Amino acid sequence: MNVHLVGDDAAKLSLLRGMLAERCSLTSELIGDADVSGRDIDAVVVAADLRDVDNITALKEVSDRLARIPRRIFLTDHKSRLSTVQAYALGATSVLSSTPSRNQLLGKLLDARPSSLSKSIALDDRQAAFAGASCIASMFAAVLGDTEIDVDETRRAGKRIAECVAENGLSDWLATVRRHHEGTYQHCLLVTGITVDFGLSLGVHSSDLERLYVAAMFHDIGKARIPLAILDKPGRLDTKERTLVEAHPVAGYEALKNNAAITAEVLGAVRHHHEFLDGSGYPDGLMADRIPDLTRILTISDIFSALIEYRSYKPVMARDRAYAILQSMEGKLEKPLIGAFRDVALIR
Ligand SMILES: [Fe+2]
Ligand SMILES: [Fe+2]
Repeated sequence: MNVHLVGDDAAKLSLLRGMLAERCSLTSELIGDADVSGRDIDAVVVAADLRDVDNITALKEVSDRLARIPRRIFLTDHKSRLSTVQAYALGATSVLSSTPSRNQLLGKLLDARPSSLSKSIALDDRQAAFAGASCIASMFAAVLGDTEIDVDETRRAGKRIAECVAENGLSDWLATVRRHHEGTYQHCLLVTGITVDFGLSLGVHSSDLERLYVAAMFHDIGKARIPLAILDKPGRLDTKERTLVEAHPVAGYEALKNNAAITAEVLGAVRHHHEFLDGSGYPDGLMADRIPDLTRILTISDIFSALIEYRSYKPVMARDRAYAILQSMEGKLEKPLIGAFRDVALIR
């Protein structure tokens, strides 16, 4: 495996070389000089302080070339949520602490995703996923830093995803995202692609498609407020953790409610994407007559996405099994919509 190292000081690079030399073929550069131009790089490891503006600027300058490398592992100060979000905004596919063990680092580099996810993938899908993940990370950073969210950037990133799904199909999109992205970023990119494909299969007009992908891109923005240790926890959540997670629709609503570029409809979808028709959802326990179509479509796409996501600690659920679970949620999800979702779930 060809691994390229980029670091903000020579000592970090030499430490990494020592860790990886036995298993990987290595090249390395200091961050300001980095041009990341090698053709056959399988992975890049970036070891840099992301609180340093110069480092961020230098990495932004090479971001187009970084996007061509399939695996991009950033080592950052893990305690700082903002550094982690910044790493994803710069295109990380994984983030580890600044002092990972050799096994942790090799585990990420050699991470063998299931073969069903490992097909060769169109570069435009990969680039749209890269841009989408960066955009989601930027909106998380804006929520954490209480700064303005760039709604236009989100709209552009969503449009690009919609074009890829329309052009290359949903299956390719799912494979790209599950192969290259993790955690909340993977989830939001999958939900956006699935929601778009659901809209396309229902024959919606292009302006309605835009409403769908904007709502999907923003739907979990409130998760910016949930500690990573809870968001990425492999096992079951305890009651306290569950309460924190279930606060994310309202946190998202609060983050967006004063933004003039967000429509009331999208705001409603962000707040209500965990409501069920029988009133058993959260946060407001809405009944069917108060849940609009857009939110119903988003909820189905969201649940399906959560079921089929790639997680390193559990096998990927097959699409037909995930669809059977949706079908079993009678009373909670709209039956005709679940029927219409069949092709999206199983075929497209
Ligand atoms: Fe959610
Ligand atoms: Fe979600």
